[in-house]
Amino acid sequence: MFKTLKELEEACKKCTNCDLCKGRTNTVPGEGSAKAEIMFIGEGPGKDEDIQGKPFVGAAGKFLNQLLETACLKREDVYIANVVKCRPPNNRDPLPEEIEACWPYLEAQIELIKPELIVTLGRHSMGRLLPGLKISEAHGKAKRYKGIDGGKQVYYPMYHPAVALYNGSYREILIEDARRIPKLLEKIKKEKLNERNAK
Ligand code: URA
Repeated sequence: MFKTLKELEEACKKCTNCDLCKGRTNTVPGEGSAKAEIMFIGEGPGKDEDIQGKPFVGAAGKFLNQLLETACLKREDVYIANVVKCRPPNNRDPLPEEIEACWPYLEAQIELIKPELIVTLGRHSMGRLLPGLKISEAHGKAKRYKGIDGGKQVYYPMYHPAVALYNGSYREILIEDARRIPKLLEKIKKEKLNERNAK
């Protein structure tokens, strides 16, 4: 498949796998560290992201930056991607067939980065990676579920940061959930080390 994130991002820029390519200014493959321990996966680019070719640079992105700070994370140390890499018209929800058409890119990103933890942002990202859950029940709780390599992967569903822009009551929930990330990551790494030592 793709040998590097750079190669993947270049291929993504030329992608015509679905009709979203027709309306894009730029593709938004994702950005961040190839060695990220945590991957954040949102829904799809909005207007600002489409213009700049970068994920989460608009209003929701400003709040995501705040959440990263709350989680003691630097934006350049994590990897931020979306389930669809081109902007859906008028920011509508991505269609299931668009999510599927874009899946090979997200799958390859996860495979290349091999994050310890995948934070899903919103229903669409959670729905693709952790099917069958309700976000109102699943948010803020880590879940071990199958990873793309068939092994176990830790996921941590969160609400989409944009919901806090429309409904202030979600703001505190998102901040609370972000606050739990450092301890969760520490726990995942400790367990991995213990597993390795036990072999
Ligand atoms: N919302 C998303 O889901 N992704 C972005 O990149 C920006 C806003």
